[in-house]
Amino acid sequence: MKFICLTLLFVCGITDSRSEQYEVVGPADPVFAVAGEDVILPCSVKPSISVVDMRVEWFRLDLKDSPLVHLYDDHEDRNTDQIQSYRGRTKLTLQELQTGNASLKLSTVRVSDEGLYKCFIQSKSWSDDVTVDVSVEAVGHSPVITVDGFDRSGGLHLQCESEGWYPEPDLEWLDSEGVSLSSETTETHRNSDRFSLKNSIIVYHSDKIHCRVKLRHYMLETLINTTNNRFISWRTSVILSSVFVVLVVIAGIFITVIAIKNKALDQLPNEHRKIQHAHDQLQDEKSTLQHERDQLLQSQKIIITQALPHLRTHTVKVTLDDDSAHRHLIVSDDGKQVREGNRISLNEGNNRFKYHLGVLGKDGFSSGSFYFEVQVKDQTEWDLGVARESVRKSWIDLSPDDGYWTVSRRHEKYLALDSPLVSLSLRVELQRVGVFVDYDQGLVSFYDVKSMSLIYSYTGLSFNEKLYPFVCLGYQYNHNSTPLIICD
Ligand SMILES: *[C@@H]1O[C@H](CO)[C@@H](O)[C@H](O)[C@H]1NC(C)=O
Ligand SMILES: *[C@@H]1O[C@H](CO)[C@@H](O)[C@H](O)[C@H]1NC(C)=O
Repeated sequence: MKFICLTLLFVCGITDSRSEQYEVVGPADPVFAVAGEDVILPCSVKPSISVVDMRVEWFRLDLKDSPLVHLYDDHEDRNTDQIQSYRGRTKLTLQELQTGNASLKLSTVRVSDEGLYKCFIQSKSWSDDVTVDVSVEAVGHSPVITVDGFDRSGGLHLQCESEGWYPEPDLEWLDSEGVSLSSETTETHRNSDRFSLKNSIIVYHSDKIHCRVKLRHYMLETLINTTNNRFISWRTSVILSSVFVVLVVIAGIFITVIAIKNKALDQLPNEHRKIQHAHDQLQDEKSTLQHERDQLLQSQKIIITQALPHLRTHTVKVTLDDDSAHRHLIVSDDGKQVREGNRISLNEGNNRFKYHLGVLGKDGFSSGSFYFEVQVKDQTEWDLGVARESVRKSWIDLSPDDGYWTVSRRHEKYLALDSPLVSLSLRVELQRVGVFVDYDQGLVSFYDVKSMSLIYSYTGLSFNEKLYPFVCLGYQYNHNSTPLIICD
């Protein structure tokens, strides 16, 4: 098209020798946007010239009649014909237009923003355009696992539900080794743009079972621990009661057959009474089981609550190692607090964090369990957890591959810096985080101390070096001077 236009212009002899060389460029790959966040749809003129005096038009290519998303013309935004749903959410920056950058900022992205956009730029002598493909992702809620009870064969029925996703995510069950378990097909519902999922599974042996929901860059998962003793005793009683039912039925048939054979009809009422008695016993058994099941369901909700006081028995004294601290950190004399700030004197060592505003604990651990708590209240950028000894030699990414097991807060978001990253959906702002490490079991877990709930667990790890407590105030800069405080 452009070729034909240019050819025509050439033939007519009105070619502007400068305009031919300009081109409107955009991203080669689809732009991923997260529902509720802002996104930039890139579009610019190359080589760069000011487009302040030109017409910049953004419209939807995939909707009927290509309706307007944003129009800048004659030095002003002219959005009276804009699609209603984009009202107040689009922005071109004048400063950027001066450098040929006509990227559109779209605020609080909605699922309906997904589609093809055209960025069209026109001057008096020239015009060109580019197409931008926008994909929207909405991250749903953490999966919720419900215990639906046991069946006669001792199988435990679990159901996992998660809602608020777009597009449709994958749901899977995993055992403690991370092996995917086969389950029924997932039920999916779509209501107002978002997908919700439901899936059931029957498990026959005790294990830590995870329900994981995954969507391109995001993953949320919930764990249930069925190795809990109460599950096992409950399962045993269900199996025993099933065996009991079978025995009673067989006995009933036997007695009836014998009674008929002997024609000892007068004995029958007696036998009938016995069966009646067995039946009553069975009823009692059933209501006891029902009661136990209710208790069990109750106990599921408080398993973590019971765990935290237990973990606290492993509390260790953590003192921060000033010699490892980034040069923009001030560690208090008692080694219990760290905040951003400029040091008065500094002995430059090779062992300091260079990029991350991090600091390690003085003492490392190479066996058993340990636990410590860090107050993060009012601080908006932090990472904390444990790091292995050899990170002292190379400060790289805060990922398990590089020897860091951490959770993190970036702006308003909480993340587990696992690979891949896990976005944590917490209902409340964290004030104090508990870190529990079981070196021998290869477990690092994080707890919200206030609500006594589990935030995230790294499991199935194997350590072969000492592990050090690690706290960090983000990457290179932090303008919030609130300290992180070790709470003993
Ligand atoms: C273009 O402008 C947007 C803001 O509208 C900015 O985020 C982006 O970095 C700019 N692109 C370039 C290449 O300068
Ligand atoms: C699961 O429960 C069992 C028994 O109560 C316990 O030994 C085990 O440590 C628990 N596992 C986790 C990850 O909580």
